[in-house]
Amino acid sequence: ATVRYEAESAPAVCDGLIESNHTGYSGSGFCNSSNATGATAQFTVTAASAGTATVAIRYAHGATDSRPANIVVNGSTVESASAFGATGAWTTWSTKTVTVPLNAGSNTVQLVASTGTGLPNIDYVEVTDGAAQQTGAI
Ligand code: GCU
Ligand code: CA
Repeated sequence: ATVRYEAESAPAVCDGLIESNHTGYSGSGFCNSSNATGATAQFTVTAASAGTATVAIRYAHGATDSRPANIVVNGSTVESASAFGATGAWTTWSTKTVTVPLNAGSNTVQLVASTGTGLPNIDYVEVTDGAAQQTGAI
C-alpha cells in the first residue's frame, strides 16, 4: 500500500518552519528547514510487514546550491549525502525516490541536511510497502 505523510502533520517534525508561501504543495504547507547542517525533517511511517519499501520524497529547491541530505531510517543511514537537484523555482515540486528497509509497524525516516544551506523545502513523503494491493487496484 502507498501512504502519504505530510511534513506539516504531527508526528512529523520539521527542524525549521512550516510555511505555505510557495504554491503547489500538498496539504497545508511544507517544511522549510533551518539553513544549517543537520537540519532534519522527520517522519513516522508504518509498514505492514518488515521488508523493503520505497519512499518518494516531494521537494522544491529553487536555489542553485547543492542540498544533499542523509536518508536515515530508524537511526541508520541508508544513503549518505543523497542529492536533491534544483527544481528551478520554489513553486516547482519534484519527487525523489529512495529504497529503504522498514520494520513491521512504526519506523522513523529522517532527512538530514549534509550542508549548511539545509534541506530543500519538503512537502511530504509517500511510502509504498510490500503489502498486497487491494483487489481492483491497477
Ligand atoms: C527562500 C525561500 C524558502 C527557502 C529558502 C532556502 O527563503 O523562500 O522557502 O527555504 O529560500 O534557501 O532555504
Ligand atoms: Ca530553507
